[in-house]
Amino acid sequence: MTHINLQDYLSQETRSNLRVFYTQLRTEGPLHYLDEVNTWVTTSYEDALFVLRDPRFIKDSRKLPGVVDEAVPEGLSRHLLSSDPPDHTRLRRLVSKAFTPRMIEHLRPRVQQITDDLLDEIEKQGQVDLIPTFAYPLPITVISEMLGIPEADRASFRAWTQAIVNIEADNMAASEAFFHYIQDLLAEKRAHPGDDLTSELAHVQENGDQLSESELVAMIFLLIVAGHETTVNLLGHGTLALLQHPKQLRLLRDEPSLLPNAVEELLRYTSPVSLSDERWANEDIELHGQVIHKGEQVVAALIAANADEQHFSDPTRLDITRQDIQHLAFGKGIHFCLGAPLARLEGQIAFGTLLRRLPDLRLACEPGELKWSKNPMLYGLASLPVTF
Ligand code: HEM
Repeated sequence: MTHINLQDYLSQETRSNLRVFYTQLRTEGPLHYLDEVNTWVTTSYEDALFVLRDPRFIKDSRKLPGVVDEAVPEGLSRHLLSSDPPDHTRLRRLVSKAFTPRMIEHLRPRVQQITDDLLDEIEKQGQVDLIPTFAYPLPITVISEMLGIPEADRASFRAWTQAIVNIEADNMAASEAFFHYIQDLLAEKRAHPGDDLTSELAHVQENGDQLSESELVAMIFLLIVAGHETTVNLLGHGTLALLQHPKQLRLLRDEPSLLPNAVEELLRYTSPVSLSDERWANEDIELHGQVIHKGEQVVAALIAANADEQHFSDPTRLDITRQDIQHLAFGKGIHFCLGAPLARLEGQIAFGTLLRRLPDLRLACEPGELKWSKNPMLYGLASLPVTF
């Protein structure tokens, strides 16, 4: 068992080689410990499945006396990803309809339009940073439109979300601001309902005992945060992966029918959510001879599971023609990513359009100069300078 130091873990050096870091860690053993945040970390595919599926690992830390989960402020915490059945089942049922592959497919023309509008602006310049001009605005525009959030309000989200997910010093102030913003949005939707998911959920909340007010606020919060902080990393890091594998890039440009499979391979290869959300042991659980005591936290390193040679042949190779890619980038079990169909659609349209419209796309800095984001759970680029 290796003790991982959080500061080392967040260094640019580790960030730029996270897959290599975990591949090395897995050779040292299956179970490790992230100091400072007191969390067990699993590194194999099999153990990731175990942690994500075994009901003895729970999400709602309020069930454990004496445990205080400081990661998300109380007012925003009663959402899907921090609840267990039966609450989880009830909450998930309320939103699952809106995210089925069939419902999401209806968004295709609009997602294509948003993508083309962003590229119209990019084409006017010679060199851009693809994160703020493309990878970020695409998913935030899509989820904001689904939720009926006015365009003028969207700029505030990035700062708030980053402060909250990166656990920065002003995290509490950001949570307060976000909380009040969502309350105001709900008041507005109740007064003037629109054809959007927020109005629909506000209506469900008012007309029955399906959803409490705090669950409603937390649900909107989760959809906003999960709806963009993840996909930005797939689009940014996925583009970099293609630029660093010119043969794969050319193959994908020549054969756009490979796009759905390429997105699965890029999800596996980049693992935008590198660590699963934490689970709490609801009783003492033995794993590889080590007892994870009741009340302790464990996360599955999805990025390590996705590079496990016991499960994938030649896992360090990017191969967009790889068959039957059973990656864990969207998790597994009851918390499997609600937004997976949306993320897949956005990925297919984004990569397809980028390659078609910018045939000379190239990295505009040395790979060693790239800046990686510092969120311990996520894995992606803070900036991606390109020319075309
Ligand atoms: C859950 C990954 C995009 C909404 C998850 C989980 C993962 C994940 C790994 C499970 C976490 C765990 O069990 O610990 C990703 C990736 C994305 C992405 C890699 C993009 C490439 C989205 C989008 C939405 C979304 C676009 C849209 C709203 C959610 C929600 C959950 C979730 C609501 C919680 C589900 C539950 O607890 O039942 N995601 N996600 N995600 N994701 Fe995503």
